[in-house]
Amino acid sequence: MASSSFIVLPFTAAASACLPPSKPVARGKQGRRTRLSCHCKATAGGAGDDDLAVSRRLDRRDVLLGLTGVGAAGAINLGGLALAADDAVPATCVTVPVTDQVIRCVSADGFNCPGVYRPEDVVDFSALPPPNGPLRVRRPAHLVAADKEYVRKYEAGVRMMRDLDASGDPRSFKSQAAIHEAYCNFHYKVTAVAAAASRTAGGGGGTPEIDFDVHFSSIFAPWHRMYIYFFERIIGELIGDTTFALPYWNWDAPDGMMLPPIFNNASSPLYDANRDQAHVTAVMDLNKGPGADNELPLCSDDACVKENNLSVIYRQMAVDTALQFHGNKFCAGGTPGSPGSLENAAHTAVHIWVGGDMGVLGTAGRDPVFYSHHANVDRMWHLWTTTLGNQDFVGAGTGDWRDTSFVFYDEKRRPVRISVRDVLDAGRLGYTYEERETLEWLDKRPKPATGIDRPAGPSVPAALSFPVALKKGRKEYVTVERPEEARASGGSSKKAPEVLVVDVTIDPCEYAKFDVLVNVPKGQEARVGPQDTEFAGTFENLPHGGGDGGGRGMGRLTLTYRFALRELVEDLGCGQDRRLDVTLVPRAGGMVVVDDVRVELCN
Ligand code: C2O
Repeated sequence: MASSSFIVLPFTAAASACLPPSKPVARGKQGRRTRLSCHCKATAGGAGDDDLAVSRRLDRRDVLLGLTGVGAAGAINLGGLALAADDAVPATCVTVPVTDQVIRCVSADGFNCPGVYRPEDVVDFSALPPPNGPLRVRRPAHLVAADKEYVRKYEAGVRMMRDLDASGDPRSFKSQAAIHEAYCNFHYKVTAVAAAASRTAGGGGGTPEIDFDVHFSSIFAPWHRMYIYFFERIIGELIGDTTFALPYWNWDAPDGMMLPPIFNNASSPLYDANRDQAHVTAVMDLNKGPGADNELPLCSDDACVKENNLSVIYRQMAVDTALQFHGNKFCAGGTPGSPGSLENAAHTAVHIWVGGDMGVLGTAGRDPVFYSHHANVDRMWHLWTTTLGNQDFVGAGTGDWRDTSFVFYDEKRRPVRISVRDVLDAGRLGYTYEERETLEWLDKRPKPATGIDRPAGPSVPAALSFPVALKKGRKEYVTVERPEEARASGGSSKKAPEVLVVDVTIDPCEYAKFDVLVNVPKGQEARVGPQDTEFAGTFENLPHGGGDGGGRGMGRLTLTYRFALRELVEDLGCGQDRRLDVTLVPRAGGMVVVDDVRVELCN
């Protein structure tokens, strides 16, 4: 399987459905106004089950095409291969590497692209002098509180960013926050794919606008590393301290599982009033969504919640391949995107936990805690490749991932082109992470549930047919075949680990969540949680939308997610079994359609 960051144009790529922006919606206590469209609500919270209820099974082809704009855009003609929207999506794709040459930010609908630069002014990161001086050391945010001098500087830096001219200085806090909004709320458009399609078709013709997003693909980790790297350098420049390093939100350690107090001081520039107030001083629960009644009913105290969190983190880290960890290459035009475990698990859950600005992609960068949250996401990537000894994409066909590049403004207000290969090693970027004595999640490998009764025969009813719309309160059961090779080796190797692949179609603007259980007898689902082997994991969607331009673009998003099975199969001792019984437990979301569930070897 190819695993680099190409832009991939399926033959049936369609322009996004450009819904007119809906009326401004008042939002937050201060009455800040936010334009929202598609089906987004004002906050991530409380996505109702009935506002987009899909109780009928969607037409399979409809789901495959995955976009509401297909009909309007019609087919793209590629070298005589004209495919009507009615045709199935073929596996072949047209690919173009992602660079600033092929994507473009479009100001529209109340959103202004931050920092528009002249192409001739762009400098290459690799041509700039490498960092000299000591490594900048990122420390845990809940512990830096004791270092008053540091907190004072950090606050001073963010205050200065907030005071910079919001429209004239790309280093201003507002512009920095808008970078995230631009890259995640479909304000960037893929231009080259459209051009390539039109060239292949003999030139001329309309060039459909295809949405670009830095989430749901292997661009996620490197792009966010670049983003907070420049944010950090800007603070350092403003306070005149080139050793300044962002603090990281150490949410993977039990004592860091709470909003770090330095962000919860109302008179500090690190404060954001728009957060879920019930969560600002509570122990974080990675298994709890924003709405009522979508948590696991398993814990009655904080210690249990923390143990569950550690298991969630263990699971996101205990994946063997870059494809599982980072997700698929970026795919333009609405064909399935695919977040990796780094993005889908704790990352999304922490956004949702903080809520408010953080709970929606469009506004997330407005909350100063975003940068510390992403410092820890970045640290998780760093640990995965260093402490855990895994490898990012290597070998033939992966060069385009490393060549993927973006342009960011640096601390001197220079537009800098930086590529994925420039950021694969934190040390070469001049920073590192201060580690504490233990990584508590490291030894939290889940164990087979003790509280369930195991019948001799199949544990769930026979296979279900797809697609199926998930509905809260109704579990879905499916029996999947394991590949021959996996059985032959009694559980597959680390090089080609067994994964449970779930294809899903969601509303990108809506919070959605479901858990996946393996070999749990029907009726006993509530006895199984993240600390148990049978709990394969959670799929969760961090909604698009919010911000100045809303989340227009797609009405549906098709995604593929891989749940790691290697250790699960090993620990359940079912390596020789032909089948696995899978239970889907819907937690939240009015439009979640599961298109397929299958076992694959992932390499
Ligand atoms: Cu770009 Cu945590 O999101």
